[in-house]
Amino acid sequence: MSDLENLKTSLLAEIAESGDEAAIEAVRVGALGKKGSVSDLLKTLGAMSPEERQTRGAAINALKTEITEAIAARKGALKDAAIAARLEAETVDVSLPVRTSPAERGRIHPISQIVDEITAIFGDMGFSIAEGPDVETDYYNFTALNFPEGHPAREMHDTFFFNADETGARKLLRTHTSPVQIRTMEAQKPPIRIIIPGKTYRQDSDATHSPMFHQVEGLVVDKTATVGHLRWVLEEFCKAFFEVPSVTMRFRPSFFPFTEPSFEVDIQCDRSGPIVKFGEGTDWMEILGCGMVHPNVLRAGGLDPDEYQGFAWGMGLDRIAMLKYGMPDLRDFFNADVRWMTHYGFRPLDMPTLFGGLSA
Ligand code: DAH
Repeated sequence: MSDLENLKTSLLAEIAESGDEAAIEAVRVGALGKKGSVSDLLKTLGAMSPEERQTRGAAINALKTEITEAIAARKGALKDAAIAARLEAETVDVSLPVRTSPAERGRIHPISQIVDEITAIFGDMGFSIAEGPDVETDYYNFTALNFPEGHPAREMHDTFFFNADETGARKLLRTHTSPVQIRTMEAQKPPIRIIIPGKTYRQDSDATHSPMFHQVEGLVVDKTATVGHLRWVLEEFCKAFFEVPSVTMRFRPSFFPFTEPSFEVDIQCDRSGPIVKFGEGTDWMEILGCGMVHPNVLRAGGLDPDEYQGFAWGMGLDRIAMLKYGMPDLRDFFNADVRWMTHYGFRPLDMPTLFGGLSA
């Protein structure tokens, strides 16, 4: 075999063996590059006699052409194989069902939902949110709210007290959200329009009571607030909250140390079916306590009762959540049972709004 035949056989073997584009490129440089084996042969053409150029010269050129084509063909094949492998690896089966993301599967607790709903309603009426500490002093929880020392109403709250400190003072877990009324009056000048959602604590536990529960308090203080305004605010709230076009409410005289006059408010409902319906029926259900802020409470908040007046209300959030969403046992709220949450919880991206529907 001639030297050219030998070179051709070994180059074609190298081409066939190159497994990727880098390998074939190395073969190309080795044969056709500046110092490549075929290029070296081409350089000998100049020194050849005309006859030699016709035979050997033609054979070298034919070798060059054949090797160039073989390299191009192998390169093409390797490129196609690389693309095919990549397509194979990146295949997506678009017919597979969509897997829900954790954010979609999570649920909002009904209490959080109710707070969001109430915030949406009162936010629309121009109220803002106020907060205060769960661990309170006797002063804010009772004294400043016009509970006289030794008054039986203090006993009614079944308070959780902490151990007394060095001065003999005992802190407590707030029994209602009303102490935040005082804290707000101390901190800001009227007009005040706030709601106070939050945790409250009393020693009580059964199907409708839990030692930790939730209330939302409302407070309006300005120079002209009246019982008429109070009624309107509560009626608008109940219509929006229970998502009914009208409600009938009944204001019964009552007693709270921090309001005068005080009322308990019942809402008309139909309890004949499995779930309570509002805005119709012949039954009444008590939903909240309210009244005109007592002058002593305004004074405790640093306001002059001859200049300012206001109204306030407080209601149990857990109870109205149970009523609205038909949940029979309050204790389930705090059992952290994921099955209960999946059933009664709310989708996280469905924020309650007045225009979109509160519980849609
Ligand atoms: N704090 C009262 C309670 O827990 C509820 C309440 C009644 C709040 C009347 C008020 C109010 O602001 O005016 O039983």
